[in-house]
Amino acid sequence: MLGWTIPDHRGLGGLRLVELADPIAAAGDVVLHLHAAALNPADRYLAEGLYPARPTFPHVLGRDGSGTILAVGEGVRGWKPGDRALILRGDTGVTRPGTLAERVAVAADSLAPVPETYSDLEAAGAALVSLTAHQALLQWGRLAPSVVLVSGASGGVGVATVQLAAALGHTVIGLSRSVAKREQLLLLGATAVLDPRSDCWRRELKELLAPRRVDLVVDTIGGALFSELVDTLGFEGRVSVVGMLAGPVPAFNTASLFFRRVRIGGVAVGTDSRDSQAAAWGEVVSLLRITGSRPVVDSVFPLEEVPAAFARLAEGPMGKVIVRMTARAPEAGLHTVGFGGSS
Ligand SMILES: NC(=O)c1ccc[n+]([C@@H]2O[C@H](COP(=O)([O-])OP(=O)(O)OC[C@H]3O[C@@H](n4cnc5c(N)ncnc54)[C@H](OP(=O)(O)O)[C@@H]3O)[C@@H](O)[C@H]2O)c1
Repeated sequence: MLGWTIPDHRGLGGLRLVELADPIAAAGDVVLHLHAAALNPADRYLAEGLYPARPTFPHVLGRDGSGTILAVGEGVRGWKPGDRALILRGDTGVTRPGTLAERVAVAADSLAPVPETYSDLEAAGAALVSLTAHQALLQWGRLAPSVVLVSGASGGVGVATVQLAAALGHTVIGLSRSVAKREQLLLLGATAVLDPRSDCWRRELKELLAPRRVDLVVDTIGGALFSELVDTLGFEGRVSVVGMLAGPVPAFNTASLFFRRVRIGGVAVGTDSRDSQAAAWGEVVSLLRITGSRPVVDSVFPLEEVPAAFARLAEGPMGKVIVRMTARAPEAGLHTVGFGGSS
């Protein structure tokens, strides 16, 4: 089969499309014939050695994917060849080979059925970001209808958070630097979308919400924006810290937390148990069905163009960047690589 490997932690520049040995279904695993995979910023972090995981090289990146089961290993219950499945957040693409390949062996208990109404492309990118959004919104318990501010609202996690927060009955305010994406986010359920680069976005927000303030911030950006986000919160406001695309927070003043008793909590989607993930995914699918929301696909690249897909992710997508698998004979000149060694 064809797949993209990295040889080490020197970054995405090391990506090579190679011929790989077909995976086999070990006990507890299934082999999935992938229809599509999705990219996440953490793939790049792992490639650059910035993610706390040390896979065996050469390593196949890719945590998300959807496909059809080809084979089931010993002891697997509830799945059979021919079933359509997607991957919840497990070790796939982290410590074990990932989904930027035509086939992948995954732990059977990290699979979920593809919702009937989702296309393969929609299903491929929905799970990781939805589970992240679910944790970010619900780690504080079931909040009464609240004002939720989402930074990086156009990204994979941002879109999933906007959709899920709206479905949970919250008033959702998004932040995006792009005029076109701001328009699309309004259609996805945001009440308002502001430009975080504007000097007056916080004043606009205050006027929009008065006399209310923000109850929960879901932050994927960090950097200098973080202090501004904290500033928008009301009494007992919370921040779910998901990512830091703009880097570390400079000179944060902890006094900004005292008087409003602001609480900050990290989000780590990989820490949820398989049962919790399955329950969260089920809730996401049900809620989005009620509101008629669907996973948002930004762009689709063929397997052969994974580097271009990563370039699109770095530009800032609107939803998910998807890689569509293509069934074709390997081209002459491709290298053959086996896990744990190359030939
Ligand atoms: N903690 C967890 O468990 C967890 C899980 C999933 C993801 N994450 C992290 O969360 C972050 C977001 O992931 P994602 O999948 O949503 O990323 P994404 O799809 O690449 O989207 C991020 C969005 O943020 C905006 N953005 C990017 N760089 C920015 C900057 N320097 N300043 C301001 N805005 C910027 C862009 O929107 P505009 O161009 O519209 O402004 C972009 O579309 C990443 O760091 C990721 O690793 C964490």
